[in-house]
Amino acid sequence: MRVIRSPAAMAAWSEGLIREGVKIGLVPTMGALHEGHRALIRAARLRCDALVVSIFVNPTQFGPQEDLAKYPRPISRDRELCRKEGVDVCFEPTMEVMYPSRFQTMVTLPAIARRWEGEARPHHFSGVATVVTKLFGIVRPQIALFGQKDFQQSALVRQLVRDLNLGVEVVVYPTVREADGLAMSSRNVYLSPDDRIRAATLYKSLQAGAEAIRRGVADREGVQSAMAQIVKKEPAFIIDYLAVCDPSTLEPLSVLTSRVVLLGAVRLGSVRLIDNLLVTIPRRAT
Ligand code: PAF
Repeated sequence: MRVIRSPAAMAAWSEGLIREGVKIGLVPTMGALHEGHRALIRAARLRCDALVVSIFVNPTQFGPQEDLAKYPRPISRDRELCRKEGVDVCFEPTMEVMYPSRFQTMVTLPAIARRWEGEARPHHFSGVATVVTKLFGIVRPQIALFGQKDFQQSALVRQLVRDLNLGVEVVVYPTVREADGLAMSSRNVYLSPDDRIRAATLYKSLQAGAEAIRRGVADREGVQSAMAQIVKKEPAFIIDYLAVCDPSTLEPLSVLTSRVVLLGAVRLGSVRLIDNLLVTIPRRAT
């Protein structure tokens, strides 16, 4: 496995392979790789000939009060995981080469990025859209994989690729969960032991929403209240949002259609947890 740090060297590597007709896959990450990333890397390995994992803690997607400085960076462990999973290149650019002093362009956002995480974390998605566009421009993958855990991010990337004709196939891979249902995330290491136990409640609340839909609850408020009931059992949680949305627009649904996505974001001490669940609504006999 090669470690490449310069965008020019990365682009040259890809250029050579593209000329030979090799299919390049990319898994963009911010490092601190966990089993969710491993699953993404494995899925990517099966879908391409040459696999690049980018490891870059992207400053433009962090707010001023967020955890950029303390974001975990276990680079040797990350490289080892990549090596074991048959990754061809770890692309690890520095902040200075990604955002040199003359850097000026940021991608503006489509409607899909406005609500939910877009409201809670202003500038976050603009940073994500910009860095993903840059990574696609440097690595030039034919296929890129993202985790469903960041549902709105995946929807944004799909829209970005369509709108800007980036020519990359975007694959969204199902969320990998701990045994108690907590979605894997690099930020879970921030949870205290007690909060780690509580954290699985978010997924349980999404499951309660899905269960309510299956029982026949057909309005948004009913489903949201089924989710909120579970979260409110844990006084330590502060709810940012619990939403019932159209999975393609992320707009809240008043009448539930055939497929919905339940989105949740809560705060537990200084840690913010997000999760989601796609639900297909059973057809009922009329
Ligand atoms: O999901 C992430 O880890 C990041 O948002 C991404 C896509 C690597 C962009 O920095």
